[in-house]
Amino acid sequence: MKPIFPKWMNMLPTLGFFAASGTAVLVIGGFWYYATPKFWEVGYMPQQPGSGFNHQIHAGKLGMDCRYCHTNVEESWHANVPAVETCMNCHTENRLNVEISTATDEKVQFIRDAYAEGKGIEWRNIHVVPDYASFPHNAHVNAGVSCYSCHGQIQGMPVVAQAQSLSMGWCLDCHRNPDENLVPKDKVTDLYWVENHWFNTMDENGNLIPVSAEERAHKGIDPQALVDTLKRNPPQYCGACHY
Ligand code: HEC
Ligand code: HEC
Ligand code: HEC
Ligand code: HEC
Ligand code: HEC
Repeated sequence: MKPIFPKWMNMLPTLGFFAASGTAVLVIGGFWYYATPKFWEVGYMPQQPGSGFNHQIHAGKLGMDCRYCHTNVEESWHANVPAVETCMNCHTENRLNVEISTATDEKVQFIRDAYAEGKGIEWRNIHVVPDYASFPHNAHVNAGVSCYSCHGQIQGMPVVAQAQSLSMGWCLDCHRNPDENLVPKDKVTDLYWVENHWFNTMDENGNLIPVSAEERAHKGIDPQALVDTLKRNPPQYCGACHY
C-alpha cells in the first residue's frame, strides 16, 4: 500500500509552524528544535537513585514478568513504575522468599531506608512524550505491540536506556505499517521470545531488523494469520494524537 504520508512530510508541521511565525521566532525556534533532546534521546540513561534498578537481574535472570511491577500497562493510558512496597515483597530484611547475598544486602539498603522513612524512591523518568501529543500506552500493549518495539531488549539491560526517538516520525512510521510489529498477545512481555521470533536485532540507532517471513514460517508462525486476526489500523490523521 502506498503510504498516505510520505516520510518527508513528517517535517511539514515543523516547517509550517516556523513559516507561520516571525523571523525571531524562527531563530529561537530553530535553536530549540535542533537543541532539544530529540536528536540525542536515543541512549538517554539518567543516573538512578541508590544503586539503581537492574532489569537484567529481575526481568532477565529471575524471569519476573513486566506486569509484576508495571501493573498498569494493560489498563491505563499511562504506564507506571512500582511503589517501594513492591520491592519490599522480596527485599525486607530476613525475609527468605528468595536468597539474597550479603553484597546484595548492602545494595538494597536504600530501598529499606526509603520504606522506613515512608518515602518513595524518586526514579528518574526516561521516556517522555510531550503533553500536546496523546499517547495511550494501554492501547498499544493491548493491540499486540511488544514492549520490545518501543523500549528495546529491557530483559538484557542492567540500566534502562531509551531505545527509540519517540518523535512524531517514529509514531507515524509504525502507524503506516504496524504489521511487522504485531506479536501474539501472550508474548507481548516475553522479550526474548519476541527477539528470537520477530526481530533479529536492533541496531544502535534503534532500527528493528525483522525476521523474514520465510524464517518466521520456518519457526511455525504464520505472520499473515496473526495480522489478519489482530486487524490493526492505527490512526494517521492529526486529530488522533493532537487535540
Ligand atoms: C521488579 C520490578 C520490575 C520488573 C519485573 C520490571 N520493571 Fe521496568 N522498571 C522498574 C523500576 C523500579 C523502574 C524505574 C527505574 C529504572 O528506570 O530503571 C523501571 C523502569 C522501566 C522503564 C523506563 C521507564 C521510564 O522512565 O521511561 C521501562 C521502559 C521498563 N521499566 C520496562 C520494563 C519491561 C519491558 C519489563 C519486562 C520485560 C520490566 N520493565 C520489568 C521495575 C521493574
Ligand atoms: C520477586 C522478588 C524481588 C522483587 C519484587 C524485587 N527484587 Fe530486587 N532482587 C531480587 C533478588 C533475588 C536479587 C539478587 C539477585 C542476584 O544476586 O543475582 C535482587 C537484587 C537486587 C539489587 C542488587 C542488584 C545488584 O546489582 O546486585 C537491587 C538494587 C534490587 N534488587 C532492587 C530492587 C528494587 C528497586 C525493587 C523494586 C522495584 C526490587 N529489587 C524488587 C529479588 C527481587
Ligand atoms: C507503542 C510503543 C510502546 C509500547 C508497545 C510500550 N511502551 Fe512503554 N512507553 C512508551 C512511551 C512513548 C512512553 C512515554 C509515555 C508518556 O510520556 O506519556 C512509555 C512509558 C513507559 C513507562 C514509564 C512510566 C512512567 O511512569 O514514567 C514504563 C514503565 C513503560 N513504558 C513500560 C512498558 C512495558 C512494560 C511495556 C510492555 C508491556 C511497554 N512499555 C510497551 C511506548 C511504548
Ligand atoms: C511500533 C508500532 C507503534 C508505534 C511506534 C506507535 N504506535 Fe500508536 N498504535 C499502534 C497500533 C498497532 C495501534 C492500535 C490500532 C488498532 O487498535 O487498530 C495504535 C493506536 C494508537 C492510537 C489510537 C488508540 C485508540 O484507542 O484508538 C493513538 C492515539 C496512538 N496510537 C498514538 C501514538 C503516538 C502518539 C505514538 C508515538 C509517540 C505512537 N502511537 C507510536 C502502533 C504504534
Ligand atoms: C500518531 C500520532 C501523531 C499523529 C497522527 C500526528 N502527530 Fe504531530 N506529533 C506527535 C508527537 C508524538 C509529537 C512530539 C514529537 C517530539 O517530541 O519530538 C508531535 C509533534 C508535532 C508538532 C510539534 C513540532 C515538532 O515536530 O516537534 C506539530 C506542529 C505537529 N506534531 C503537528 C501535526 C500535524 C499537522 C499532524 C497531521 C498531519 C500530526 N501532527 C499528526 C504525534 C502525532
